[in-house]
Amino acid sequence: MDYQLQGKLAFVNAGAHGIGEAIADLLTAEGASVIVADSDAAALDEKAHRWSGVVAANLATADGVEHATSHVLSAFGRAPDILINNLGVGTASSFEEISDEDWARSIEINLMGCIRTCRILVPRMAELGSASVVNMGSDLAKQPEPTLMDYGACKAALLYLTKALATQYAPRVRVNAVLPGPIWTRMWTRPGGIVDQLVASYGVDREAAVKRFLEERHMPLGIGEPSDVANAVVFLASPLAKFITGSSLDIGGTLRGLV
Ligand SMILES: NC(=O)c1ccc[n+]([C@@H]2O[C@H](COP(=O)([O-])OP(=O)(O)OC[C@H]3O[C@@H](n4cnc5c(N)ncnc54)[C@H](O)[C@@H]3O)[C@@H](O)[C@H]2O)c1
Repeated sequence: MDYQLQGKLAFVNAGAHGIGEAIADLLTAEGASVIVADSDAAALDEKAHRWSGVVAANLATADGVEHATSHVLSAFGRAPDILINNLGVGTASSFEEISDEDWARSIEINLMGCIRTCRILVPRMAELGSASVVNMGSDLAKQPEPTLMDYGACKAALLYLTKALATQYAPRVRVNAVLPGPIWTRMWTRPGGIVDQLVASYGVDREAAVKRFLEERHMPLGIGEPSDVANAVVFLASPLAKFITGSSLDIGGTLRGLV
């Protein structure tokens, strides 16, 4: 399929690994010029040859977002046609364990990074006359889990932001979100990640823990790959989705509830 992205300029944040990396690769393969921002400078150095540019920044801070977006605007010489807000980090804790500081940190990462990036770039993107944003939500935005309340609440807020920005900037900037279910990335596999947390909570081995998680949540498609999300994101970002804005697309066969 031709996504009609030849010559488009794209900015992918938190793209050094996982879903963001797959999005940056697919946008590039489809002919877009892509700049990737991430806090993992070593991974960016290693992968920089695959994209048009990289910028190391802590996107959970105002200074980091300012640094990354300034770099994008000066490297491209104008606002990007496509903005992918992929930043997000979830750590399981019980409600009682999440302190004020934990909530504040989570909000900086899972909400303010996207807000600050949009506040700087979206008005400039609107001046282009035709641009698009895709925000990375989560199935947890609509299907709360007791152990990830801070993360899920921020992802739910991103849905509000997505619709509000879509309304404000239509028809010049389309703004959509995707809501992935479980995707096999470092969020799951890293030490202390979701797999380790499931093993600790269920008291079984890694494979059995993941199996039980999927069964309990009625996820018959199992665990997805980063490319499963990238395909949907790149479609929504592309001119093929020119009549879609303010939407949030469920990815991963999460079949609980009607919302
Ligand atoms: N993996 C899943 O099951 C899943 C499900 C739903 C939603 N998501 C969302 O997908 C997005 C990507 O997650 P992933 O699964 O690919 O995880 P990942 O850990 O593979 O990638 C996250 C990326 O964010 C970067 N990052 C973390 N903190 C940063 C910061 N402060 N500043 C800049 N970069 C930072 C990391 O270096 C890494 O490259 C997140 O928004 C996550 O919430 C993931």
